[in-house]
Amino acid sequence: MADILIVNGTVVNDDREFKSDVLIQKGIITQIAPSIKPIEGIKVVDATDKLLIPGGIDTHTHFQLPFMGTVSVDDFDIGTQAAVAGGTTFIIDFVIPTKGQSLLEAYDQWRKWADEKVNCDYSLHMAVTWWSEQVSKEMEILVKERGVNSFKVFMAYKNSFMVTDEEMYHIFKRCKELGAIGQVHAENGDLVFEGQKKMLEMGINGPEGHELSRPEDLEAEATNRAITIANRVNTPVYIVHVMSIGAAEVIARHRKDGRRVYGEPIAAGLGVDGTHMWNHDWRHAAAYVMGPPIRPDPRTKEVLMDYLANGDLDCVGTDNCTFCAEQKALGKDDFTKIPNGVNGVEDRMSIVWENGVNKGKLTHSQFVRATSSEAARIFNVYPRKGRIDIGSDGDIVLWDPKASKTISKDTHHHAVDFNIFEGIKVTGIATTTIVAGNIVWNDNKLSTKKGSGTFVPRKPFGPVFNGIAQRDIVRNELLRKVDREPYTGPVIKLN
Ligand code: URP
Ligand code: ZN
Ligand code: ZN
Ligand code: ZN
Repeated sequence: MADILIVNGTVVNDDREFKSDVLIQKGIITQIAPSIKPIEGIKVVDATDKLLIPGGIDTHTHFQLPFMGTVSVDDFDIGTQAAVAGGTTFIIDFVIPTKGQSLLEAYDQWRKWADEKVNCDYSLHMAVTWWSEQVSKEMEILVKERGVNSFKVFMAYKNSFMVTDEEMYHIFKRCKELGAIGQVHAENGDLVFEGQKKMLEMGINGPEGHELSRPEDLEAEATNRAITIANRVNTPVYIVHVMSIGAAEVIARHRKDGRRVYGEPIAAGLGVDGTHMWNHDWRHAAAYVMGPPIRPDPRTKEVLMDYLANGDLDCVGTDNCTFCAEQKALGKDDFTKIPNGVNGVEDRMSIVWENGVNKGKLTHSQFVRATSSEAARIFNVYPRKGRIDIGSDGDIVLWDPKASKTISKDTHHHAVDFNIFEGIKVTGIATTTIVAGNIVWNDNKLSTKKGSGTFVPRKPFGPVFNGIAQRDIVRNELLRKVDREPYTGPVIKLN
């Protein structure tokens, strides 16, 4: 929790942009004004020609996740180092209990893993992989006592994480009672399962079989189903990793109809396309395997960015879940065994800037909304996070819109041995990252302190719940019984 004065910068929030100095004291922003006089001994940082943006928020990471028989290699230490090196200062990871496991037990495990290692603040979503009275009770404890206000269900991963529509309905109802947002991995898990069998029967056992077994319409169908179920409950729902044009169109259509749905594109989907899975080098192809698949349709990344710009998609995550070559090789003869996941947490901000701002699709403020502010609002940590304002956390990035770099596994800060954005040149990078008033990234060098980040508890009934109760009243008024005389005629006999 340090003091620092940033001078000569241009502050960019999601609603306006203005020249100003910014003072951070004890880790909190205490003054925003032109020409702040430095207090004696304070560290002064010059931000001439730089934009000062709220630290990025990655809504979707899986650090050291036990998954598909192995564990993702970016742990909470390396993962948050990579985050701050790219201008992200707050991550929300997913606790994923196994079917039948106590949610509280899994939560404690994740807290232990993360608290010892994080280099920036973090929070936790909870996956609900099974349903029972116990799960329902534990959800309440998590919301009221453990700072969780978002619960994710998987419609895919049959026989492990997948829940049924009926379970999803009950989980969403519970979310609504507790004021927590429902999140969905939307793919038709039964059809994915059948598709996988079909590809293997046809002898298609390489990484291309991954996409071929779970094409776009399986994602679009599940997205539609999840939104429909959430709407029956009248509760807000958030679709994680929107990977296809079809799924984005479904979300946009439901929003037009006034449904309370939020969509999260990820860096991978905005930055590359899925044709890499057809690469002749097995290792290269396998590196791009994640679920839902990065789509081979080359228009996808453009269209997803357009939806982000017009607001039908909300905030950008990464689904950072990295596996090295020898881990991916668990599926060398069978693509269904390739651990699913790609990198993103380090490159997310620059990928969005390059494909959004540099393409003339996003304004500076829209960039801030998509990479930080909107996530803070949806997950109810705004304006503590997601804004440069008095009283907000001193998490600020000095963004140089003119500086460039070429992304590479040889220079990235991940533990993984591959980068899906390899060779992409981005203009617009984080030159300095400040976490709670401490410089943790500057001049291409990290100076993080392992375990220095803190867990940020999130309260229920955030802005996404505004108007939901009123909507219930209005809808219930339409549910009226018709008064009529009882039927007195004959009735057939059933045997
Ligand atoms: O491929 C992925 N997405 N791996 C992480 C687990 C998930 O589905 O989010
Ligand atoms: Zn997922
Ligand atoms: Zn390739
Ligand atoms: Zn994920």
